[in-house]
Amino acid sequence: MSKKILLSGIQPSGRPHIGNYFGMIKQLLGQQDEYEVYALIVDYHAMKSVQNPKEMRENIKNVVLDYLALGLDPKKVTFFKQSDVSEHTELCWIFDTITTMPYLMRAHAFKDAEAKNKEIDVGTFNYPMLMAADILLYSPDIIPVGADQKQHIEIARDTAEKFNRTFGETFKLPKDMIMKEVAVVPGTDGRKMSKSYNNTIPLFAEYEEIKKAVMSIVTDSGEGIPKNVYAIHNLLRSAKELDPIYKDKTGKYKELKELLIEDIEKFIAPLREKRKEFEKDIPKALAILKAGSEKAKKVASAKMAEVREKIGVQVY
Ligand code: TYM
Repeated sequence: MSKKILLSGIQPSGRPHIGNYFGMIKQLLGQQDEYEVYALIVDYHAMKSVQNPKEMRENIKNVVLDYLALGLDPKKVTFFKQSDVSEHTELCWIFDTITTMPYLMRAHAFKDAEAKNKEIDVGTFNYPMLMAADILLYSPDIIPVGADQKQHIEIARDTAEKFNRTFGETFKLPKDMIMKEVAVVPGTDGRKMSKSYNNTIPLFAEYEEIKKAVMSIVTDSGEGIPKNVYAIHNLLRSAKELDPIYKDKTGKYKELKELLIEDIEKFIAPLREKRKEFEKDIPKALAILKAGSEKAKKVASAKMAEVREKIGVQVY
């Protein structure tokens, strides 16, 4: 029997942080034996923030190295990038033609950008359509993501339904996999950890960097317990373990932060070391990505052939 399919994506838009890890990557790691896993690098999505070719190239390489260092096994996982599989942008266009502007104007990312009075680029507006294509081309059973992507997956689902209604059953309806406890990993200021808020703890941070990030955690203290410190600590240790420590050290914020620094270091140090090993052979890492993209391309092009047939452009 063939395995069920799991797919998820990440933007190569800078260094990954522990929010990406606990919200999404950990689920990929945990499911790679159970599922056929597609790990997508969405470089075209990242173009809305990365418009420097050197930086883009570096970021793409870095995601592959990060994934390998974290333990995603290329024998079980298909690593691939969006720009290698042109079917993503092709299907995105088709979805554009069956989607209305008022519908996309309800997307959170668009509304946030609008609220900030930004000059919104068409890519940001259209982002959910490309993401729907990323997903629907591969007929995945589940998509592990953080809570911030929930609406995007609902949009992909709506789009699949709309296409199926209009042209006949073609796409499997996608389902998100959001782990409740890590749906929104908080950053050093208590808001969602995010590159754009500058409140991250990078996944491969050096010791000094970890120290600086933890020391900058805003100590919003309810009854002597620094909530933001506890919330990050709770990613690494259970409440059962943490509660007596935090009770014992009520009000001792510096000591609690020092303990958190040590725990993060214990978690990150082996990853940092593994990453250094993979950095020694970048061509090998890139060959893994290329082979993955070739495999993904076959799946995507078969689905696109079906789509072209369904919409009636296939006349030869
Ligand atoms: P991106 O690159 O912003 O983030 C990658 C993944 O990390 C999760 N994440 C978090 N989870 C919990 N707490 C946080 N603080 C946190 N910050 C980030 C995100 O939810 C995401 O799962 N649109 C996507 C990329 C994408 C995609 C796809 C994902 C494009 N196509 C198809 C799945 C399927 C994004 O921008 O993720």
